[in-house]
Amino acid sequence: MDEFIYIDNSATSFPKPQEVHDFAYEFYRDKGVNPGRASFDLSQEVENMVLETRTVLMQFFNGDGKPERLVFTYNASDSLNMIIQGILQEGDHAVSTNMEHNSVLRPLYVLSQKSGIEVDYVPCDSSGYVDPDDIKAKIKNNTKLVIVNHASNVLGTVQPVGEIGKICRERSVTFAIDAAQTAGMIPINMERDSIDVVAFTGHKSLYAPAGIGGLYVRDGIEIESIRFGGTGVKSAVRTHLEEYPFRLECGTLNVSGVAGLYAGQKFIRSVGIDNIYEHEMKLLKMLIDGLRDVPGVILYCPDSLEARAPVLSLNVRGYTAGDVGTFLDVDFNIGVRTGLQCAPLVHETIGTVPEGTVRFSIGFFNTEEHIRKAIDAVKELAARK
Ligand code: ALA
Repeated sequence: MDEFIYIDNSATSFPKPQEVHDFAYEFYRDKGVNPGRASFDLSQEVENMVLETRTVLMQFFNGDGKPERLVFTYNASDSLNMIIQGILQEGDHAVSTNMEHNSVLRPLYVLSQKSGIEVDYVPCDSSGYVDPDDIKAKIKNNTKLVIVNHASNVLGTVQPVGEIGKICRERSVTFAIDAAQTAGMIPINMERDSIDVVAFTGHKSLYAPAGIGGLYVRDGIEIESIRFGGTGVKSAVRTHLEEYPFRLECGTLNVSGVAGLYAGQKFIRSVGIDNIYEHEMKLLKMLIDGLRDVPGVILYCPDSLEARAPVLSLNVRGYTAGDVGTFLDVDFNIGVRTGLQCAPLVHETIGTVPEGTVRFSIGFFNTEEHIRKAIDAVKELAARK
């Protein structure tokens, strides 16, 4: 059988750059002590790497110059829980969209059940874009948070966060984005786009290992901590610290994960985020062009490649999405994700509930050869029916 072709980078980027593996492994092997908990040199060296990583990520998102407000978490779901549970209180209203992942939908749902939070979900059009005016129309006096998926993990549509940010800033409503699918692939500019909080994960386009993520919280936005514990400083104080990053971090940091983010940043900067995006979108275009007119293949994507991430959802007539995924794996050695991809409202919008779609999500290490083989495989499956 041919080599395994992985086209599931929205789930996690794979493989990771060799230099990320090398740096994270060697750093932890040689210097894996607890940062900020001791005065010896090695601990300080690790603390320096952690601070440098906070700083480069803050710059990467064009945050407002306070590296301590770059907080490390486990992943994007963890960050989004912290934002949602740390901002909304009983009686508050939030606005979100039908494009969200369960990492936003479920915390909002739990809060609406438990704490009387009210939420409006703005629909997207049939192509998967949200109209900023629809968000504006939903903002009320008690709206505390607008939280929007930067790019859909099902359709790849990138939302107009600049326009939404402007509306939120004018109404003094906190604006947070879920950048799980975009951080490292599509530039994020908090200052320009009036974004108050960015939630990201490390293991997708930031090329770090799984288990590290974070958020950047603009100065002036306060998130209450939902967990408390050791910080390594001011140990005599009975309550958890108010100042960032301690406010939202507790316990020993995932040092090898932070080292992965550090090396991932170096990788992205050396290749160039625009070059990464251009490569991936060139392959997306090739995939769409190769499948657009194939009888029996239904593509769920807008015609334009503007405001898009390199993700393509499709179905093949006569098969369930799950069956297509199994055939791609067993007969063609191609790995994709099928089903609802943790984003049920997107599938309600495009009419693909309950089976969902077959999702191809392209990464930097995919090649034209991979895409040619994927096109041939889908064509062959369609022709079998
Ligand atoms: N959210 C990830 C995906 O879309 C896991 O596959």
